[in-house]
Amino acid sequence: MFQSSAPAKVILFGEHAAVYGYPAVAAPVSSVRALAEAHSTPGTGLQIELTDLQMMFRAGPHEADNPLGKLAALLLQHFGQKPPDLTIRMRSEIPIASGMGSGAAISTALGKVLLAALDIPYTLEELNELVFEVEKFYHGTPSGIDNTVIVYEQPIFFVKDHPIEKLNIARPFRLLIGDTGDKSLTKDVVDHVRKQYESDPSGIKMIFEEIGGISAQARQHIESGSTDSLGPLMIRNHELLQKLGTSSKKLDRCVEAAVGAGALGAKLSGAGRGGNMIVLANEANEDDVKTALLRAGAVKIIDTEIKPSALLD
Ligand code: PMV
Repeated sequence: MFQSSAPAKVILFGEHAAVYGYPAVAAPVSSVRALAEAHSTPGTGLQIELTDLQMMFRAGPHEADNPLGKLAALLLQHFGQKPPDLTIRMRSEIPIASGMGSGAAISTALGKVLLAALDIPYTLEELNELVFEVEKFYHGTPSGIDNTVIVYEQPIFFVKDHPIEKLNIARPFRLLIGDTGDKSLTKDVVDHVRKQYESDPSGIKMIFEEIGGISAQARQHIESGSTDSLGPLMIRNHELLQKLGTSSKKLDRCVEAAVGAGALGAKLSGAGRGGNMIVLANEANEDDVKTALLRAGAVKIIDTEIKPSALLD
């Protein structure tokens, strides 16, 4: 039996602008994961079961019209392998359609377990490219930020089509992730931003440029350990995302409630129009902030620590 897993992720700064080549900052959420288990099942071919969704896929040229079958087919083709007699069971702790990278994490966990079962050596770069292919197939024009942060399980400074840049976290810091409970499809929100961009290229470009500048400043603060300075940057980044039309009433309420309860900063995270928001609180006010978030309508709060990862060291 082989096992693997992959983390959820949060985008700290720069979502949407990232699609247009501006920098963004993202980190894995290692405590919330997609998990895969592969069992040898002679005579079955390759079967993939999503246990919590009660779905089953097969991998093969005609069955690659679902994300998992697609990833398996691409991977087998890339490494010149035939479908093995294997049953892979997948489950995920990551909320779906909530900006936490559930799709990329499931693909990554599947890729890892299949490669382990086939005993094929691979680089994270190869795996990242395969997962990105699946992301492109299902999400239109993704920047590649989700698959990169999840495959490398590493806080990153991300610029589309550029080599991965690892963030040096000078001082680990905690974030709260508030789930609005509202589902939202990344592709729809990315399409909305594209329409805005097409109707007012210069106005939207100015917003993207400011967001890109915020990501660059955030990197400096993270790498110098002046974490508190991230708060105002988060608040401004959220205002710019509101201007792009990617927030929602509940996201705005949660951000306002967190800041009103003493948080240093808060913003939506990921595609927006639902999904998650993140909060930079401190020990003294964290409980008040959590209470305020729940009152504002958050259905779940996850605590996470942004810290260096051992994977690339
Ligand atoms: O998948 P989500 O909801 O975390 O959104 C990804 C971030 C976007 O910038 C909105 C899209 C992208 O591909 O970068």
